[in-house]
Amino acid sequence: MNDATSLTGNWNYPTAIRFGAGRIKELPEACKAAGIAKPLLVTDPGLSKLPMIAAALELCRKAGLGIASFDGVKSNPVAKNVDDGLAVLRKGKHDGVIAFGGGSALDTGKVIAFMAGQTRPMWDFEDIGDWWTRADEKGIAPVVAVPTTAGTGSETGRAGVITDEASHTKKIIFHPKMMPRIVLADPELTVGLPPQLTAATGMDAFAHCLEAYCAPGYHPYAEGIAVEGIRLVKTFLPRAVVDGTDIEARSHMLAASQMGSTAFQKGLGAIHSLSHPVGAVLDTHHGLTNAVAMPYVLKFNRAAIDEKIQRLARWLGLRNPTFDGFMEWSLELRRQIGIPHTLAELGVKESHLDKFAEMAAVDPTAGGNPVKAGVPEMRKMYEAAVAGRL
Ligand SMILES: NC(=O)c1ccc[n+]([C@@H]2O[C@H](COP(=O)([O-])OP(=O)(O)OC[C@H]3O[C@@H](n4cnc5c(N)ncnc54)[C@H](O)[C@@H]3O)[C@@H](O)[C@H]2O)c1
Ligand SMILES: [Fe+2]
Repeated sequence: MNDATSLTGNWNYPTAIRFGAGRIKELPEACKAAGIAKPLLVTDPGLSKLPMIAAALELCRKAGLGIASFDGVKSNPVAKNVDDGLAVLRKGKHDGVIAFGGGSALDTGKVIAFMAGQTRPMWDFEDIGDWWTRADEKGIAPVVAVPTTAGTGSETGRAGVITDEASHTKKIIFHPKMMPRIVLADPELTVGLPPQLTAATGMDAFAHCLEAYCAPGYHPYAEGIAVEGIRLVKTFLPRAVVDGTDIEARSHMLAASQMGSTAFQKGLGAIHSLSHPVGAVLDTHHGLTNAVAMPYVLKFNRAAIDEKIQRLARWLGLRNPTFDGFMEWSLELRRQIGIPHTLAELGVKESHLDKFAEMAAVDPTAGGNPVKAGVPEMRKMYEAAVAGRL
């Protein structure tokens, strides 16, 4: 069962994905195929100290690419990270970006490439109505994305999440052409991710699939992808947390993460709406915050999703294929991989809740929640999540 050599492939949706262990060696060729001769590699300061970045830079130099790197990206990236990277890109006349890292580096790299030839400021492209049509498509530089976490699926998404420090809000910068031209999905790059981050990022993939599946609206493609993504998380996330070198588990989690972002074109929901204010104000890890919020949102949504969750529970092969059985299994998974049960454990206090509830109710993901949730409902869910009341 541990033979992962067959877990490889070239996939063409939602973009060109070269999937499989060891495929990082195709990086120079992928840049050329994406039309990039002078890439700027965008990563974060933790990763830039790891041998995998030095190796990637060396590989590209040997292949004659005029590569440079930028590592000024913080977790939960802010506008300054994009501005600084953009300045390096323009000064060095780079013609494309290698976005290399977790969601933070991938999002920042994608937004830098998107902004390369724009004249309007970044916040003009927030994911509101048709604001994306303001962009000059010819000004978008190509991106090769190299994920090193299995959670956000940013490498197969059309948006970047950047925190606006002025208003303490996470904003989504969106354009259909922000989708990376080529993804190099090499599960070996995720092997060094510590167990806690493996658990937290994996739960982000789970939350994406679950919220996409439950969001109202007709999108059977997205639902099909989402349910299989959840099955992969169920089987392989505990294994990846226990043994980070389990390449079979790492491979399936990397796929599940991409399936999550592919599926959430259909919509997200209140797990993300509750999580974004907490992440923006307290700088908590995104996937971890989602993981804590999940059961409280599931309970709130029960009336609208009961039947759907039963169908999902049967697909997952749960012993008790009911809503309660699904809830029990998800709580057990959380416990098993070390996710805290309450938002209080992430530093959320009663005094935060008025503001957070207001922010959650207007978060762009709130509209996808199967049960309409305004300020009072969001507050109730926060109260339950702070107290650990289910
Ligand atoms: N674009 C999207 O659709 C989307 C979706 C969900 C979340 N996000 C955003 O993504 C960000 C979170 O991304 P994330 O969860 O991947 O975490 P992250 O990118 O913030 O990385 C977390 C930490 O893990 C380290 N790390 C990453 N890969 C590693 C590896 N292989 N080995 C050792 N350390 C490694 C990083 O250096 C960093 O310190 C948030 O800002 C969130 O809002 C974006
Ligand atoms: Fe997410």
